[in-house]
Amino acid sequence: MTAPKIFKAMVVEETDDGRYVRQISERSIDDLPEGDVLVRVRYSSLNYKDLLSATGNKGVTRRYPHTPGIDSAGVVEASTGGGFSPGDKVIVTSYDLGMNTAGGFGQYIRVPVDWVVPLPDGLTLKDAMGYGTAGFTAGMSIQRLVDHGLSPEGGSILVSGATGGVGCIAVSILAKLGYSVSAVSTKSDAAPFLKDLGAKEVVDAAEAADTSGRPLLKARWAGSGDTVGGDILATTIKSTQVGGAVTSCGNVASPELPINVFPFILRGVALYGIDSQNCPMPARKRVWEKLAGAWKVPLAGEGFKEVGLDGLDDAVEQMKARKHRGRIIVRVSDE
Ligand SMILES: NC(=O)c1ccc[n+]([C@@H]2O[C@H](COP(=O)([O-])OP(=O)(O)OC[C@H]3O[C@@H](n4cnc5c(N)ncnc54)[C@H](OP(=O)(O)O)[C@@H]3O)[C@@H](O)[C@H]2O)c1
Repeated sequence: MTAPKIFKAMVVEETDDGRYVRQISERSIDDLPEGDVLVRVRYSSLNYKDLLSATGNKGVTRRYPHTPGIDSAGVVEASTGGGFSPGDKVIVTSYDLGMNTAGGFGQYIRVPVDWVVPLPDGLTLKDAMGYGTAGFTAGMSIQRLVDHGLSPEGGSILVSGATGGVGCIAVSILAKLGYSVSAVSTKSDAAPFLKDLGAKEVVDAAEAADTSGRPLLKARWAGSGDTVGGDILATTIKSTQVGGAVTSCGNVASPELPINVFPFILRGVALYGIDSQNCPMPARKRVWEKLAGAWKVPLAGEGFKEVGLDGLDDAVEQMKARKHRGRIIVRVSDE
């Protein structure tokens, strides 16, 4: 199939009075940046970073008009090399996609070949976006904890922002692997949802955010996957057992980390930063293979909502209002 010249995309524009408006517009293939691989996008997904890009956060997207979408899964339409041929199913996430490069909320993307991952056996294109960057980041975090030596017998793992995209996939995978998972949520009615995913207990966010200023707290967790930062991350580190490990990937609560060095020098706690954007390709493929195989969790049900491009604007508003739960998969094109 030859790519049509014109396709649909969500375009965010900056108005003269400093507002950002989103609409589904027609774009031309010629508008896309130069690149090795032209991909017809079948599915994308909505991540926290897309919310920032779609609402005018210049730390994420410097110039508008812009098409967000840090995630995409689709079919190669044309390629100038790198082992990809028309018809190949691929995943393209992170790097600069959807930040300052037109992203997966458009029916076509054109990207450097180094950004392209072959769709692993065991995943459909839709499955891949059920995970998306959120699921990939959960996978990277769990890989860190496993590589650190944490086994299911070692004690409970705390996951914060648990009803969010990264959090809910992390809860599901850890539970599947046999870990006892404690889930932190700010939502008072989150327990049934999180227990269905496999959480053993749900901890209220207020309880998980100690502000007493004490340098160490009762050791409760063998490890943690933190997605929120701030007091919850600081409390988690202070409550981690000797030799435990904590991963930090997000800052929805705060970028601050009010803590001193005692958890590190008295309990040997390790703090690992998680950066999915610059994850090297061999490690990237390794995580995707795990997500498609031994770590594969159900990617449908209450935690997975599907919208078309026409439903994306509402989904952005839901995420902004913190009303969403789990993952939002975006059906970008039907064929
Ligand atoms: N480093 C990386 O490579 C990487 C990759 C992906 C995502 N991230 C980051 O990870 C974070 C989570 O991403 P996501 O896609 O999972 O976002 P998300 O779907 O919006 O989930 C975030 C969750 O955090 C909780 N939350 C929101 N505001 C909070 C607050 N003020 N205090 C405490 N908890 C709060 C909410 O869960 P509850 O209601 O259950 O508490 C919310 O659902 C974001 O900061 C994102 O930028 C980083």
